[in-house]
Amino acid sequence: MNLLIKTFHGLEQVLADELKALNAKEIKVLKRAVSCEADKELLYKANLHLRTALRVLVPIETFTATNEDELYKGIYNIDWSKYMKVDNTFAIDAVTFSDLFKHSKFLALKTKDAIADQFREKYDRRPDVNVENPDLSINVHVARDKFTISLDSSGESLHRRGYRSPGHKAPLNEVLAAGLLKLAEWNKDIPLVDPMCGTGTILMEAAMMACSIPPGRNRKSFGFMNWADFDATLWKQIKDDAEKQISHPKTNIVGADINPKAVDLAKTASLNARLNRQIRIMRADVKDHEPTAKKGMIITNPPYGERLQKSDIVKFYKTLGDTFKNNFPGYDVWVITSNESALKHIGLKPSKKLTLFNGPLECKFAKYELFDGFYIDYKTLKNKERRKNYE
Ligand SMILES: C[S@@+](CC[C@H](N)C(=O)[O-])C[C@H]1O[C@@H](n2cnc3c(N)ncnc32)[C@H](O)[C@@H]1O
Repeated sequence: MNLLIKTFHGLEQVLADELKALNAKEIKVLKRAVSCEADKELLYKANLHLRTALRVLVPIETFTATNEDELYKGIYNIDWSKYMKVDNTFAIDAVTFSDLFKHSKFLALKTKDAIADQFREKYDRRPDVNVENPDLSINVHVARDKFTISLDSSGESLHRRGYRSPGHKAPLNEVLAAGLLKLAEWNKDIPLVDPMCGTGTILMEAAMMACSIPPGRNRKSFGFMNWADFDATLWKQIKDDAEKQISHPKTNIVGADINPKAVDLAKTASLNARLNRQIRIMRADVKDHEPTAKKGMIITNPPYGERLQKSDIVKFYKTLGDTFKNNFPGYDVWVITSNESALKHIGLKPSKKLTLFNGPLECKFAKYELFDGFYIDYKTLKNKERRKNYE
């Protein structure tokens, strides 16, 4: 079967690398997705192990349609009794990138009607829709007039790892946090600091990677478990194999936040996931943050500044740059923010700048390489090469 695995813009190559590590064949990098060939084993493994995947879809049909009648026919022509029984429930997730079909809700409604009508004609009854916990999740995707109809083997989005406690206003998506760690080429031997950790998403994803804990370990269900061909023995085998790989190595993963509520949330998440030995979390202002290791990596997601005056956010980012320079020489610092103009005030020259999306927000993910040794004031710098890094 073919798999179409969804991710965020900018994480496609990282996802392709993850698939390669699972021995997937015929991997193709697409826009916000990667496709590959798979058997049932790989389908289950993809759902359990992929850190940068949002959904694992199994396309069952493609057709072209330019109006609602053609769409209805395209859906009606699929033999839905192959995928569900009349007593099952279903839900439809529709995504449109088409001027011909502007409203995803309309697409979902037409799809539902065509499926219901097909069952009614055959059995005089139809399966019910259940948005919360359907037996079958159907994904409808249209780009211009090209429809792809897929079964969603994940069900709930894979970013729901099961460790998050609700309550923080701006948590980073778990899939994005895992992607940041991979893009930064972090590994468990590198000391990691997130000095504005909020709920601790970056720290949690890092600790799970360090311990080889599959991101799907704590999820109770996946869409494929409700499919008629679900192989419970194979799934158990895959889960058991994954458990054997888990270890709890010594790590240096540190988080801090100025907000005591965020610190509590981050601590609760690490306790819930039994990762409190891997992650240390404290309350601190970033400007007072002292590193516990000589060299390491900072990956952080500072406030974007929606609730601050422009002058205050500029001042905040300037302070951030000074803190990184003064307190963290020898560190690689990665900052993700949707406030690109504020980022410029950090006062360091990025050696890399990537574009990513946190939900609908376009973000920059910038890398700053800080020199080892004592801090040299910009004005005293003679060496051109060195000066570049402080401009
Ligand atoms: C965008 S949120 C980070 C969200 C986090 N990545 C997560 O997944 O939950 C920014 C965080 O920076 C914290 N913060 C703001 N000013 C700070 C400061 N001066 N020192 C430390 N943390 C600060 C806020 O309390 C907030 O939790």
